[in-house]
Amino acid sequence: MGHQEAAKEVIPLMTPYKMGQFHLSHRVVLAPLTRCRSYGNVPQPHAAVYYSQRATRGGLLITEATGVSATAQGYPETPGIWTPEQVEAWKPIVDAVHRKGGIFFCQIWHVGRVSTNELQPDGQAPISSTDKQISYGNVPQPHAALYYSKPRRLGTEEIRGVVDDFRRAARNAIEAGFDGVEIHGAHGYLLEQFMKDSANDRADEYGGSLENRCRFAVEVIDAVVGEVGAHRVGIRLSPSADYMDCVDSDPVALGHYMVQQLNRHEGFLYCHMVEPRMAIVDGRRQIPHRLLPFRKAFNGTFIAAGGYDREEGNKVVEEGYTDLVAYGRLFLANPDLPRRFELNAPLNKYDRSTFYTQDPVIGYTDYPFLDEDHNSSKLSTQKLNM
Ligand SMILES: Cc1cc2nc3c(=O)[nH]c(=O)nc-3n(C[C@H](O)[C@H](O)[C@H](O)COP(=O)(O)O)c2cc1C
Repeated sequence: MGHQEAAKEVIPLMTPYKMGQFHLSHRVVLAPLTRCRSYGNVPQPHAAVYYSQRATRGGLLITEATGVSATAQGYPETPGIWTPEQVEAWKPIVDAVHRKGGIFFCQIWHVGRVSTNELQPDGQAPISSTDKQISYGNVPQPHAALYYSKPRRLGTEEIRGVVDDFRRAARNAIEAGFDGVEIHGAHGYLLEQFMKDSANDRADEYGGSLENRCRFAVEVIDAVVGEVGAHRVGIRLSPSADYMDCVDSDPVALGHYMVQQLNRHEGFLYCHMVEPRMAIVDGRRQIPHRLLPFRKAFNGTFIAAGGYDREEGNKVVEEGYTDLVAYGRLFLANPDLPRRFELNAPLNKYDRSTFYTQDPVIGYTDYPFLDEDHNSSKLSTQKLNM
């Protein structure tokens, strides 16, 4: 095979895929990434630059986690989608992504007890399934140093209102121009605080059995699907994760139960699952690859995330382990990640110290693209060598 043919070889990650009504041109998804640069919970013009840098024709992008209400916040300067001002601020950002042909989903989120009184309206206690405070570390930045306030257990009759907040957020996202929404049901936030038995100590119909613990998440799913249609709804789940004191004694049963609930909705768009924590095997970090049973059980598109690189991504797409692969840190640091994968080009390294910094705005829109000139000269050299 000559160099030219070798250069043309299509890697599995760069093959097209039809996700519901969306024609994706490749499998490399931007994972949701909180960036803490939305001052006053309003997304800023610099987000239009950041997201459009990462947009490709037929590429799927998911926004950073976006609050559904004033009580949804747990990090400084994260965006929301509950006020008309926030909806208006999202519009030019969504437009910028659409102009580049990208498909853009909004991750809608409530942190529950992963918060402090200072971040809550009128200094109130954060709301949760429980009044148990998060007790120990094992939490990602920027929270590792934070002290979480004691939450207030939601009364049974209040839960409907929080479900309505998700419904409104989904409606607002569509009004802002998003192609759909991803319900954040992962990583120890409010949905998981209900779902997982380490956190849920309720005695009402939202606690106890697996069905009861999943009731709130299922009501959110049903409400969001009812509002915008199953064809525009995905969900992120992490049954095996242990963030923020949220652990389940039977993550496999939990994952299966939730997948069954998604399958009740004809055309439910996607299930985005996070791999269990990386295992260290022979001194190397290895992706556990334990999502296959859920992927097999789910009727729609499956997205896997957590620790993937080019090689592992190609492998899992080729093997049919997943339809799409979401990339977090690599996409954060490489605005043109799909192109770099296609060319097997070197990657920029991410700078962890600027993941969540608010001001100045660095480590955000300033990661370099591949040098076009350098690259085209490399390709022409290959041609000459044929
Ligand atoms: C800076 C940063 C912010 C993140 N914010 C979110 C978020 O808002 N919502 C979410 O579901 N996951 C969030 N995550 C998790 C990522 O989406 C992803 O699952 C994780 O980084 C593992 O994938 P990776 O190995 O490709 O980075 C975040 C991760 C990082 C590093």
